[in-house]
Amino acid sequence: MKRVLTYGTYDTLHYGHIRLLQRARALGDYLIVALSTDEFNALKGKKAFHTWEERKAHLEALRFVDLVIAENTWEQKRDDIRLYHVDIFTMGSDWEGKFDELSDICEVMYLPRTEGISSTMIRNTLDNAAS
Ligand code: CTP
Repeated sequence: MKRVLTYGTYDTLHYGHIRLLQRARALGDYLIVALSTDEFNALKGKKAFHTWEERKAHLEALRFVDLVIAENTWEQKRDDIRLYHVDIFTMGSDWEGKFDELSDICEVMYLPRTEGISSTMIRNTLDNAAS
């Protein structure tokens, strides 16, 4: 059983997310998504439209996501990899090279990001439509 782990906010779930998660799951047999909490997003200067519980429910509804855990800090990755016996750590290519230091305990892979869509774009479009 190969276990794959990825991180993110996954607000206003869109096809860029879906494509990333499908490819991540296809790297192994079990996909864990560490989902940024609202508190952690505040620390990053980010505000999601959907709450953590809502975003978690969206991810749990996907057949290729097996487990959703909380991402509370930047530093937890090493502990998560050990705790969940992760074989492959993966992120979109916007993070290329950023997590290479984890390659001493698991495989690190970056997947090409889908062009032309992001949560920020969706939030901005909805904001503009409302004003
Ligand atoms: N992702 C992707 N293609 C996109 C958008 C996101 O492959 N068009 C990937 C990211 O590389 C990351 C994961 O999806 O591995 C979660 O990204 P997240 O930051 O939650 O999504 P964004 O849409 O990039 O959100 P934001 O605009 O708030 O940064």
